[in-house]
Amino acid sequence: MKNTAIIGLQWGDEGKGKIVDFLADKFDAVVRFQGGNNAGHTIKVDGKTFKLSLLPSGVIRQKFSVIGSGVVVDPISLFDEIEKIEKNGVKISPQNLAIADNVCLVLSLHRQIDQILENKKGNNKIGTTCRGNGPAHEDKVGRRAIRICDLQHQPTLIQRVEELLLFHNALRKGLDEPIISSSTIIDELNSIKDKIAKYAVPAFEIAQRLEKCNAVMFEGAQGALLDISYGTYPFVTSSNISLGQVAIGSCSGFENVHKTLGILKAYSTRVGSGPFPTELTDEIGEFLRIEGQEVGTVTGRNRRCGWLDLVLISHALKLSAVKEIALTKLDVLDKLAKIKICVAYKINNKNYDYLPQNIELWSKIEPVYEEFDGWQTSTLGIKSLKDLPKNALVYIKKIEELTSAKVVIISTGAKREETIIVN
Ligand code: IMP
Repeated sequence: MKNTAIIGLQWGDEGKGKIVDFLADKFDAVVRFQGGNNAGHTIKVDGKTFKLSLLPSGVIRQKFSVIGSGVVVDPISLFDEIEKIEKNGVKISPQNLAIADNVCLVLSLHRQIDQILENKKGNNKIGTTCRGNGPAHEDKVGRRAIRICDLQHQPTLIQRVEELLLFHNALRKGLDEPIISSSTIIDELNSIKDKIAKYAVPAFEIAQRLEKCNAVMFEGAQGALLDISYGTYPFVTSSNISLGQVAIGSCSGFENVHKTLGILKAYSTRVGSGPFPTELTDEIGEFLRIEGQEVGTVTGRNRRCGWLDLVLISHALKLSAVKEIALTKLDVLDKLAKIKICVAYKINNKNYDYLPQNIELWSKIEPVYEEFDGWQTSTLGIKSLKDLPKNALVYIKKIEELTSAKVVIISTGAKREETIIVN
């Protein structure tokens, strides 16, 4: 097995957790390289359901699991997740979890300001997860974030916290919010510093350890359409999600990333605000939401649902050089009489094969669809390609044709074993 990046091709929630867990057995290490606890991965194994946000999915199979330098870490949320996962029978220790010591921390002030700014935006809100990930990324590039490596030496920590508060208190005063004392943040950090130190490893040591592995999986969170540079900006998350970020955020070099597996859900969903040209606000959208149990793992919000959008996905495929796809949740479409794929946009009578970045055009998009007959028979749990109904195969072939990528894995249910390996 080669070192493989797993990248979501839509707005997140493509079912990456299941695919990562399904494949994890073939890898020695699983590395998270972006995002934070805004992510939510659900994995079902042997009757147990695991919900992961920050922990790489490899922990379930006791693989060497790394939270790379590109991730922002909320320590309180991480320890809460570790406690829950350990109660569910999975042991987490420095033997199977390493966190790069230069990751930037998400603090209570980030969670607060995320919520405050969202509330102030009213109807224009992004619909963030309010977990402070955006503000923490802002502090990272603003060079005022607190990193794990800043925690052990008190004079350094005090100085770093004061620099952080210089910015945040000015912002809070402007927003009419109470200012925060440095002792509040220092106490918060001192309460977690020894606990997190157990897992902290210099990024260079992680790189050396990964180099010795036969096969490493780089586990993406969110999806390409939420990428800060190429997604549906400003309705995006705060990190890059596409292939380039793997090298930056995983502690590994680019030459160590050998291939990409794109994860594609058989229809589209999105949580939060922003353009969604193929959104279905009718009974079919409602059917997809109920049948696909489309409720956010992190926020509990209902996901918006719609047809597959090959215009957006084609761009996502190019950005991450995706040649192979894992197609998920095919079974959710089982009962539909007709299924559509969006192959172009019409805006003001002009055809587009990409999403124009001008926000004012988004409300004018008319999706151009190709329509297919459904298969109207259950595919739930099918494990072999030859057992799939003919119309499902037609749908899959069409996806391959439109994406110029090969569908190599098909997921036909939430459980690990409900999977077809095409190759
Ligand atoms: P943030 O990442 O919390 O700042 O949220 C920004 C946007 O990304 C919002 O629309 C969120 O709903 C969305 N988002 C963030 N993380 C995920 C995820 O893991 N799955 C799906 N959507 C996400």
